[in-house]
Amino acid sequence: MKVTIFGTGYVGLVTGACLAEMGNHVVCVDIDEDKVARLARGEIPIFEPGLEPVVRRNHANGQLDFTTDASSSIAHAQIIFIAVGTPPDEDGSADLQYVLGVAKTIGRHLDRYAVVVNKSTVPVGTADRVRKAVAAELSARGADIDFDVVSNPEFLKEGDAVEDCLRPDRIVIGSSSERAIELLRKLYAPFNRNHDRTVVMDVRSAELTKYAANAMLATKISFMNEIANIAELVGADVELVRQGIGSDPRIGYHFIYPGAGYGGSCFPKDVQALERTARSVGYEARLLSAVEAVNVDQKAKLFQFIQHYFDGNVRGRTIALWGLAFKPNTDDMREASSRSLMEALWEAGATVRAFDPEAREETHRVYGQRSDLVLCENAYQALEGADVLAIVTEWKAFRSPDFVRIRAMLKEPAVFDGRNLYEPEAVEEAGLAYYGIGRGRSV
Ligand code: UGA
Repeated sequence: MKVTIFGTGYVGLVTGACLAEMGNHVVCVDIDEDKVARLARGEIPIFEPGLEPVVRRNHANGQLDFTTDASSSIAHAQIIFIAVGTPPDEDGSADLQYVLGVAKTIGRHLDRYAVVVNKSTVPVGTADRVRKAVAAELSARGADIDFDVVSNPEFLKEGDAVEDCLRPDRIVIGSSSERAIELLRKLYAPFNRNHDRTVVMDVRSAELTKYAANAMLATKISFMNEIANIAELVGADVELVRQGIGSDPRIGYHFIYPGAGYGGSCFPKDVQALERTARSVGYEARLLSAVEAVNVDQKAKLFQFIQHYFDGNVRGRTIALWGLAFKPNTDDMREASSRSLMEALWEAGATVRAFDPEAREETHRVYGQRSDLVLCENAYQALEGADVLAIVTEWKAFRSPDFVRIRAMLKEPAVFDGRNLYEPEAVEEAGLAYYGIGRGRSV
């Protein structure tokens, strides 16, 4: 099938590559000429395991093209995806200017029936706004062309994006047009080989499904972080509690890992946006506000531990930091817990020596050169001259370090484990004090 995708960010690029991989002819459109030129050379602007070969292969065999030319791209496709960014507004609601901008462009160039698909995470009601924006442009040029607008949210995770996209656990199609549903069913048929994962619903329900999924996952994490905080105060170990409750299939083991708070481009933004949507229709989403508030506090947790360890004064101290990305297998620093920790440490007069396998360049881009940040080449280099060690991202490379070596390098014998990677005994055996999240040691 012929597909056009507006936006070559995470969602757009991965979706384009995977649809091309399934034999469709995909054109990816972006306004950024430099990015389009780099993509056409096979240079992937993001770190995402497995994406580069899929993009290169499909570009080389003519299944995947990149362009800045909106009009020919619209003429190319039966199905046009909108996968541009929806950054949060100052008040936390999603900014739809890019989505509606693409809708207008489609209206200006559409010359025959097409399905317009919202892939970006957009608030309930956006499909209606997209429909109106396309229709207004069509009528402005006196064109009488039929089209449908469908909500087809994306559920991929950074770091597993290609795998998630090629093997989705569900394909949500929000539409009441039989014609549009039929076309999307056909497009997604190769992803449904063993059993049908398609869930068809009305457009508003599909839009809400995306937010509900992310809000549910964020809720699980904040709930677990709250239990961790209680565990600290009552002298329990949340890691045992986690296993104890996860064994109940109604609860499950997934997404109940306590830690230094959730980050990334989705959970913080989507929880706030859903809260805003609810407020706009007169409902105060108390649970969502609490999920967000618990997370903000949780991101301050490691700093509180470290500050308490140094009797309230970290001025002049050097903190080694392992992990900068908001989670492993990405270089994404958006809303990363490492940022809250570093910013609090700097504010209090400490220096950070940090290592991350992928996110050093991004950290440099975000913070520039500063004397209180040293980006190191490897994990142990970060320990040189450091007082204590804090771990914020659970990269595999940090899972079984040499604690004796860590002890020998640190000036003060303490490890602050923001992802509960280590068994306290293993750390303590090397003569280090261990501070985890919800592991019986409170400050
Ligand atoms: C999230 C969802 O998992 C995807 O399903 C969704 O499609 C995506 O948002 C999106 O809306 O685009 P992502 O932001 O890539 O994906 O990252 P996750 O793997 O979900 O991790 C989010 C954060 O939660 C990370 O900071 C991670 O460290 C934290 N987390 C996760 C925990 O603290 N505990 C857990 O048990 C799990």
